[in-house]
Amino acid sequence: MRVGFLQFHPTFGNTGQNLSRVETKLSSLDADLLVLPELFNTGYLFSGRKQLRQLAEEIPGGETTRFLKSLSKKRKMAVVAGIAEKDKGKLYNSSILVNPRGDMHLYRKLHLFNREKRWFDAGNLKLEVVSFRGAKIGVMICFDWIFPEVARSLTLLGAEIICHPANLVLHYCQQSMLTRSLENRIFTITANRIGTEEQNSERITFTGKSQIVSPRGEILVSSPRNKESLGVADINLKEARDKSVTPANHLIKDRRRTFYRL
Ligand code: ACM
Repeated sequence: MRVGFLQFHPTFGNTGQNLSRVETKLSSLDADLLVLPELFNTGYLFSGRKQLRQLAEEIPGGETTRFLKSLSKKRKMAVVAGIAEKDKGKLYNSSILVNPRGDMHLYRKLHLFNREKRWFDAGNLKLEVVSFRGAKIGVMICFDWIFPEVARSLTLLGAEIICHPANLVLHYCQQSMLTRSLENRIFTITANRIGTEEQNSERITFTGKSQIVSPRGEILVSSPRNKESLGVADINLKEARDKSVTPANHLIKDRRRTFYRL
């Protein structure tokens, strides 16, 4: 299976331009699964809930979902992408996975980071795993990485690949994702963004270095810190199915669950 990410620099508030730039950047890509960053269509640093509400879209009714469905169908690949979602008065930092048949899976970020708590409502959907071309795929968004429960829960649900749309600002996430992969024996695809955004006196720089990591904790592809780029890797899912660390140690079966209570 061939998987990839697009490390991207969205222009804040210009969804139309961001969608068409993504389409151009992907024109030479041949892959089964592609991951785009968190909030790839809007940018990140909202002035408040009012501005977020203006930029957020309904899923599946909005322009970005239509774009992603059409992209997936045209390019015959599954696409995972982060979008600001509005639903019944709530605003979620969401991600959708679409496949070429038009099926869609929605995830809403469970762990909001810093200022996001002012803008977004926390996710209210259970973690789930979906199948595509023989792969079991889970999704988490950016800061979810620091809660190992998320990657572990997805692993226990059967995930072999975790897609990780991100707008990372803490520089140590990429390194930590090697451990998330290793401790769960799964592939992880972190699609980060680059660039700096300013709003009033606030300024945020995103850390790039998108990457694909193997179940052995090896970086298969990594992007530079500050350049838009595509990363692609051919992966063997068998590596994620074998949970034996040694002949005598199994990552899942060896857990001593009765002792893990506080
Ligand atoms: C983040 O969760 N966007 C840092």
